[in-house]
Amino acid sequence: MTQAPAHPPAAGSASPYGTLPAAPPQAVRKPVSLPRLREMHAQGEKITMLTAYDATFAAVADAAGVECLLVGDSLGMVCQGLSSTVGVTLETMRHHTECVARGLRRAQATAWLIGDLPFGSYHESKEQALRSAMVLMQAGAHMVKLEGGGWTTETVHFLVERGIPVCAHLGLTPQTVHALGGYRVQGRGDEAAATLTSQAHALQDAGASMLVLEMVPAALSAALTKELTHCATIGIGAGVGTAGQVLVLHDMLGMNLGRMPKFVHNFMAEAHSVQGAMQAYVQAVKQQRFPVDALHAW
Ligand code: KIV
Repeated sequence: MTQAPAHPPAAGSASPYGTLPAAPPQAVRKPVSLPRLREMHAQGEKITMLTAYDATFAAVADAAGVECLLVGDSLGMVCQGLSSTVGVTLETMRHHTECVARGLRRAQATAWLIGDLPFGSYHESKEQALRSAMVLMQAGAHMVKLEGGGWTTETVHFLVERGIPVCAHLGLTPQTVHALGGYRVQGRGDEAAATLTSQAHALQDAGASMLVLEMVPAALSAALTKELTHCATIGIGAGVGTAGQVLVLHDMLGMNLGRMPKFVHNFMAEAHSVQGAMQAYVQAVKQQRFPVDALHAW
């Protein structure tokens, strides 16, 4: 894939569009790396993650101190107006990953960048998964995310062995929404909890260094978080007990004209700027004021 050359403006000229600086400002923190994320996990410091789909929001999130940016396939709904993530293609994910990576380079370039492998891009074989992961890594991702447990374990091992950090994703896995029968809480009841637990352990053993837990009961997420000492759980609708939290950017900025999911808080409501809302999110997660199990979890 040929990459369009970057055309930096001539010295002294400024773009009339957007908010990106012409040159990166002095970084105020070290780039977030896998060892740094492991250290945070080991020390019990909460990890903050938001989704990002374009250069400007990525740069602002980086400046706000968000540690991890996920180019999620939620962009299907957020940016493309689709009704699910099923229609998102690898080419679309490559494009947005490249935009976010470019935005980070124009800002402080400190955030850890995760590219989401879309539906159908890793399902055929582990070799297909490797080819798809390479596309996102070459677009600027530091890690790839894929959904599901059981059959994905071998794929995770294959990618990790080849030097590609992997974030797994269990609980509500939106790419399989039709099989799940809707956007529902997962892992309820002894049998479902035991399956989710054994899949999570297998993914950790395969080398996944992060695990998104989406719409999973808070007690189960907290128990799993204690058990998984080498894999940081990142919750969304999974309670305060996970090693970190993620929200979809537009949701936490209150840009949702439909019904806001129970696990979301609108951080823009009390902020004066997008960067302020992101900073408030980072602080609330670090201080364990968000999420509140009684309000945002099951
Ligand atoms: O695609 C996405 O944005 C995600 C998050 C909701 C975790 O997978």
